[in-house]
Amino acid sequence: MQWTRRHLLGLEDLSREEIELILDTAEEFYEAGEPGQRIKHADLQGKVVVTLFFEPSTRTRISFGRAARLLSADTIDFAASGSSVSKGETFIDTAKNIEALGIDVAVVRHSMPGSPHLLAQHLDCSVVNAGDGAHEHPTQGLLDIFTIRQLKGRVDGLTVGLVGDIAHSRVARSNIHGLVKLGARVIVCGPPTLVPDTIERLGVEVAHRLDDILPCCDVVNVLRIQFERQRGGLFPSIQEYSRLFGMHGERLKRAKPDLVLLAPGPINRGVELTPEVADGPHSAILRQVTNGLAVRMAVLSLLCGQPGASRD
Ligand code: CP
Repeated sequence: MQWTRRHLLGLEDLSREEIELILDTAEEFYEAGEPGQRIKHADLQGKVVVTLFFEPSTRTRISFGRAARLLSADTIDFAASGSSVSKGETFIDTAKNIEALGIDVAVVRHSMPGSPHLLAQHLDCSVVNAGDGAHEHPTQGLLDIFTIRQLKGRVDGLTVGLVGDIAHSRVARSNIHGLVKLGARVIVCGPPTLVPDTIERLGVEVAHRLDDILPCCDVVNVLRIQFERQRGGLFPSIQEYSRLFGMHGERLKRAKPDLVLLAPGPINRGVELTPEVADGPHSAILRQVTNGLAVRMAVLSLLCGQPGASRD
């Protein structure tokens, strides 16, 4: 199939075929440059990519910048802190002024759900959602699914547990939309206060006891507690949360021997995952980061209409 979209705003909008096209394109980049994608491509020669971040980021921002440079794009890195946003300049004005410098792709992260959709209405360039509040984080969802497909050889028919703060997690939503479309059985698991009542409408099952679902999971994606999006009081204590929903060595004995453990990062060591588990044999956490580069190269290349233009 041909990619026809100008923006990547979420996985909810995409068809199964579109998701598979991104994953297949990412696989081409991965095969050409693994590990670490050090091979340069000319797909985005003459293009300019701006990372427009109004919220903190380590992985996503650096990964998009590196992906763009590996595709031979020029890059601009904007962070709201230290910018004229502090003088009252609006989100839209900020983005329009940066676009006036000559931009082809704006990669945007903002705490407001729907902010990339708003930018897409006001800008002529392509817009990529790099995380909008608790709504979506499509490239994180794609890289999680890419990693599952890489390690398990398929997504269809697998059982994937999404564990933790489902209510405030944009990663959960993008995972759900992508995984359900690709035929996975998705079980969301967390304290009742951190699982929205309506989540089953997205095609998932709900559980509140991790020990009950762990033995049937092929993959568990451990989500961070989004303290910055909570008003507090959603569970009695960190210690109790960790005891009931944290991944630790003893609990892992209940899991399948070939369980793949994902976490989007950053991780709260000792809360959602003990260090022995985060750094242990089931963990694919750093592989996810490496794979994110190939996925973001694929997204940028497809949006600019150039996938494989420079390759044999
Ligand atoms: N997973 C993720 O989005 O990490 P950052 O917040 O560091 O970009």
